[in-house]
Amino acid sequence: MTPHLLLTGATGLLGRYLLRDLLLLDVNVAVVVRPSKRQSAAERVEALMRTWEAMEERHLPRPVVLEGDICQPGLGLDREQLRWIRKNCDCVLHNAASLTFHGFGRDGEPWRSNVQGTQNVLDLCERTGIRDFHHVSTAYVCGLRQGIVLESELDVGQEHSNDYERSKLEAEKLVQSADFLSTPTVFRPAIIIGDSQTGFTTTFHGFYALLRVVYTMARSEGLHDKAEPTYVPVRITLDGHERKNLVPVDWVSAVMAHIVTSREHHGKTYHLTPQQPVTSRMLCEVVERINNFRGTQFFGGLEEIPDPTESEKLFYEHIRIYNAYWRDDPIFDRTNTLQAAPHLPCPKIDIELLMYMAEVAVDMGFRFKDRPVRRTAPLPV
Ligand SMILES: NC(=O)c1ccc[n+]([C@@H]2O[C@H](COP(=O)([O-])OP(=O)(O)OC[C@H]3O[C@@H](n4cnc5c(N)ncnc54)[C@H](OP(=O)(O)O)[C@@H]3O)[C@@H](O)[C@H]2O)c1
Repeated sequence: MTPHLLLTGATGLLGRYLLRDLLLLDVNVAVVVRPSKRQSAAERVEALMRTWEAMEERHLPRPVVLEGDICQPGLGLDREQLRWIRKNCDCVLHNAASLTFHGFGRDGEPWRSNVQGTQNVLDLCERTGIRDFHHVSTAYVCGLRQGIVLESELDVGQEHSNDYERSKLEAEKLVQSADFLSTPTVFRPAIIIGDSQTGFTTTFHGFYALLRVVYTMARSEGLHDKAEPTYVPVRITLDGHERKNLVPVDWVSAVMAHIVTSREHHGKTYHLTPQQPVTSRMLCEVVERINNFRGTQFFGGLEEIPDPTESEKLFYEHIRIYNAYWRDDPIFDRTNTLQAAPHLPCPKIDIELLMYMAEVAVDMGFRFKDRPVRRTAPLPV
């Protein structure tokens, strides 16, 4: 039988796209998934596969499901499962991570999943003889760097703005220094947003979190029901020109699936970043348009807004955990990505696409859950 690729994080936003795209490329996939409070790993995976089948209106093959947790030694797998991996898997795509920005000590998230979890996945590879390793990192391992960031660069002594970035840097260093592996392939996506075709997303961080906070505030003021946009002066501590790198999840997954299935592209690091970043002014315009108001004023250079209004206080309180992201991004060099996938250009992220994604998120109520699969439903073995 053709060997399997072992994927972690298949239940997350990017993971479910990777799972779909790899299965559609006829890759045999095995997934390590943890159970939730109410569902086994197999039930969770079956639920997400049924979501895909409903959206795609076609039958999809199923992955082999291994119930496990990357935070456990051996991923918590039993001897039989480990034997199965040794016999059937020749490659790992390690995508699981905690997106918690700030932690309380290294025993908790994001360190537990991102650093200890990555070490556990590496140990599993060493134990089962897997040498072909593909790792999902983030473009923001560059932390607070400015200027041009090369795909070949990693730790140049940069500062970071949160524990998530620090933990992802540490994880990437662990992967790069695992000498039993062939040279690993590293993917560094920028900020992932929904599907460029359908607007679909399952998580609502970053851009969506900002949108959601303002949406809730605007709804309580009845702004959405007014015939004309209301004038609401809101002062923002940005100058409007700050660049943010957003990438649609379907594009990130398509490029990754292409590279993973093309041996000649293995062993490099890829910045999965857009051709053109968006500006903070564009993001604010989307937020204004969706919420039927105008009046955003840019005060770049100010650390804090003097004498904030009640609305401004509430707004800043809610978006505080994203503070670090309200700054200019560096320029991400994309030489390797352009060479490996010239036929897969990143869709242009313009105001129309962002408006579309924002409308879909509002329609979804900023929530998504697969329809649970009942225990009695037949599950693939
Ligand atoms: N989202 C972004 O903007 C962005 C940008 C750059 C890079 N990335 C990277 O892309 C990857 C995927 O991110 P995402 O946006 O798809 O995140 P996500 O939607 O939050 O998914 C995270 C996935 O990791 C799994 N996971 C976390 N801890 C685990 C554990 N202890 N054991 C087993 N599975 C565990 C989650 O499983 P459960 O469903 O059980 O929680 C979930 O499947 C991550 O490596 C992330 O660092 C994301």
